[in-house]
Parts: sequence; structure tokens; C-alpha cells
Amino acid sequence: MSNQHDEVLKQARLFVRKELEHDSSGHDWWHIVRVTRTAKMLAMTEGADEYICELSALLHDIADEKLNESKEAGMNKVLNWLMQVGVALDVQEHVLDIIATMSFGNRAGEPPATLEGRIVQDADRLDALGAIGISRTFAYSGWKGQAIYDPELKPRDSFTREEYRSGRSTAINHFYEKLLKLKSMMNTDTARVLAEDRHERMKQFLWSFDSEWGLANESYI
Ligand code: ADP
Ligand code: NI
Repeated sequence: MSNQHDEVLKQARLFVRKELEHDSSGHDWWHIVRVTRTAKMLAMTEGADEYICELSALLHDIADEKLNESKEAGMNKVLNWLMQVGVALDVQEHVLDIIATMSFGNRAGEPPATLEGRIVQDADRLDALGAIGISRTFAYSGWKGQAIYDPELKPRDSFTREEYRSGRSTAINHFYEKLLKLKSMMNTDTARVLAEDRHERMKQFLWSFDSEWGLANESYI
């Protein structure tokens, strides 16, 4: 990696750490560190461009809708930073495309167009699974004001996206609405293997949770 790339990555770490240092919605600096480390590892095993993967992973949550006034405001924050640091134009475009697809998806819900994009998406999704994924779900729920679980709410997987957004769902419901589905949505073979163990750990956790709650005999998975 060139000196210029090293310098850009150093600046990116400083910028992102400052922006997300005090976040308590599950997008804190250490989430970024874990996702970046995983993205670099996936870039090696899958033969992708490590610089693009690392830079996109570092910046991937800066534009998140939850943390900005609007999509445009979030994307502009990333664009302004890329321009200010003097990142090459083709790299700017690639990184912005990855972040836009990851944060807001595309109309058809298709995977990101490039291998680097698919890798950063896999790395982000892996951090939503397993023991760390469980921790982040409850942290996010507290931030949002959601309950841990409410057996009087409607069945766990029948919430709409709006209900999740409004906080009328629960942390436990989030596993059924999203997290248990992520394993089959991985883009790369390496991530699929890693997702397998983390998925099992979540199922084990849900089984224990239900058993302590007294729901163990209900079929739900
Ligand atoms: P990222 O873009 O980093 O994947 P998200 O914004 O999708 O992050 O979510 C941040 C964390 O909060 C993740 O661990 C995710 O599973 C969790 N989360 C997101 N939405 C909900 C929700 N409605 N209820 C509980 N946890 C949630
Ligand atoms: Ni993220």
C-alpha cells in the first residue's frame, strides 16, 4: 500500500473516531474497528482491493440515516471528507457507491455491484450476528426505547419495518425480523462460513431466553 493510501487511512481513522466516539446506537467506534478488521480479512481471502475495502469500512456508518438529518446530508458528509483529504476521484466514486448501497440499499434490493462492496456489506452483517450481534441488539433497543421482549405483542416475525422504526417492536423480535435471516444473505464464501457459528450462537441464546421465560415448548424457529 502506498504512502498516500496510508495517510488517507490514518486521516479516516481520526475522522471516524471523532464522529462516532460517543454513539450508543450500536454504531460506535469499536463497531467500525471490528467491521474494518473483518473487511480486510475478507479482502485477503476473496482477492479484493484492500484499500477500497478498508476505507469504505471505516466510513460506512458516517452516512447512516439514523445519525443524520437526511440521506443527502449523510452522503454529503462523506463526499466532503473525501474531497477535503484529496482522495483520488475513482476511489471517491467507488467508496460513495459502496456506502450508498449499504446504507440505503438499491431499488431491487440487489447486492452491491462490486466485490469490495459485497465484502464490506458481509463484514457489517457479521457484526450483527453472534455474541456481539446480541449485545448490539440490546444496546440499540435501549437507545430506541424498545422493550427486551413483550409476550403480549403480536407474533415475533410479523412486524413491519415502520413498526421497528417507531420502536413499537422489541429486541427479541429483531432476531426474527432480521438477524436470523442474515446467514443466508452473505455474499462471499468466507463470510458464509463465519456466519454459520454466529447464527448457531444466536439460536442457542434465544433457546435459553425462552427457556428462562417459560416459552421453551413453543415452536418458533
Ligand atoms: P449497521 O448498519 O451497522 O448494520 P444497523 O443500523 O442496521 O447497523 O443496526 C445497528 C445495530 O442495531 C445492529 O446490531 C442491529 O442488529 C441493531 N438493530 C437495528 N435495528 C434494530 C431494531 N429495530 N431493534 C433492535 N436492534 C436493532
Ligand atoms: Ni455498521
